[in-house]
Amino acid sequence: MQTRYWRIDSRPEGTRFAEALSLSETSLPALGEGEIRIRNAMLSMDAGTRMWLTDREDGYQPPLAIESPMTGLVLGEVIASRSDAFKEGDLVRAFGTWADVSQVDPVLAGAIALDPSVKDRRAWFGPLGMNGWTALWGVEVTGAAKAGERVLVSAAAGATGLLAVQIARLLGCEAWGIAGGAEKGRLLIEDFGCAGAINYKTANLGEQLDAAGGFDVYFDNVGGPVLDKVLTRMNHYGRIAVCGLVSDYTSGSRTAPSEFDQVLMRRLRVEGFFSPDFIDQGERLTQRLLGWFEAGELTMPYDVTHGLENTLLAYEKLFAGRNIGKVIVELEQ
Ligand SMILES: NC(=O)c1ccc[n+]([C@@H]2O[C@H](COP(=O)([O-])OP(=O)(O)OC[C@H]3O[C@@H](n4cnc5c(N)ncnc54)[C@H](OP(=O)(O)O)[C@@H]3O)[C@@H](O)[C@H]2O)c1
Repeated sequence: MQTRYWRIDSRPEGTRFAEALSLSETSLPALGEGEIRIRNAMLSMDAGTRMWLTDREDGYQPPLAIESPMTGLVLGEVIASRSDAFKEGDLVRAFGTWADVSQVDPVLAGAIALDPSVKDRRAWFGPLGMNGWTALWGVEVTGAAKAGERVLVSAAAGATGLLAVQIARLLGCEAWGIAGGAEKGRLLIEDFGCAGAINYKTANLGEQLDAAGGFDVYFDNVGGPVLDKVLTRMNHYGRIAVCGLVSDYTSGSRTAPSEFDQVLMRRLRVEGFFSPDFIDQGERLTQRLLGWFEAGELTMPYDVTHGLENTLLAYEKLFAGRNIGKVIVELEQ
């Protein structure tokens, strides 16, 4: 069987993805014992995957090899199976390839069968997706947010951030968001119930944070200079849940906070967390998210691009801040 796929030709510089990845075609090998084939209906664009395209060996995942297909979360129907756990026709989500068809070992790919009765399948990449697990874990477990506390979220108008602010509110906290631009701030306050929003693309970020007052939890998706500004505004005994460092991903910089001493001065806890570490709790997390989702309390705007050939245009949006909510590529079926 033939499939088109995005091939990694070289390590991309910044956001120049078109120079480093090419749309190629290949014949899939015969299905191995235990493997499944998924006809990809949607690809999830995730900012964290940018790190897999670098050559750094000390990340939380080894780099993807040059000449290999680009990996990412996919959603689609099983079209062939040599696995006892999946049959043809099952709707699944898995770490597959940016391709028309993904062929994977479902265990290694973290494949899960999805409830086909959920009307909007995009939700499996949104409130019910791994971004949902990440947001819930980061706010409740790593951030240890308690009702009445003040929770600040960066990249708040993106997929993970929008879920984190909503979950913070659902847990009885006062949610604030940091995002690039006044329009994103308006959306956070008017549509997602944030108590306030901070535009980091201004010269007076520090003044905006001072006016907001101290925070008990910082759900950080960004790192970089914004983290320094927040470190000096945390309440004593606050928690910083380090979810991502998107300000580093395309610049190649490494977050190195110059205000680190505030961790001692304010007795802060700073802890990173990574969703594959709690994949075994996925079902439990999904059930909690599903409850909020079905009650209409957890929502997500989608930024949808059509066609596998346009994938890189969708991917770039994450790093230019041109997205609101979850970026998805829908493929022709
Ligand atoms: N730890 C985990 O298990 C886990 C799992 C999923 C995601 N994540 C992390 O969550 C974060 C968000 O990922 P996502 O896939 O949901 O993407 P997303 O938030 O939908 O999109 C990325 C957002 O980051 C912001 N951004 C881009 N460059 C920036 C910069 N230099 N400085 C500040 N903000 C910048 C942009 O919004 P602005 O307009 O606000 O700039 C953009 O909308 C990433 O750091 C990712 O690694 C972590």
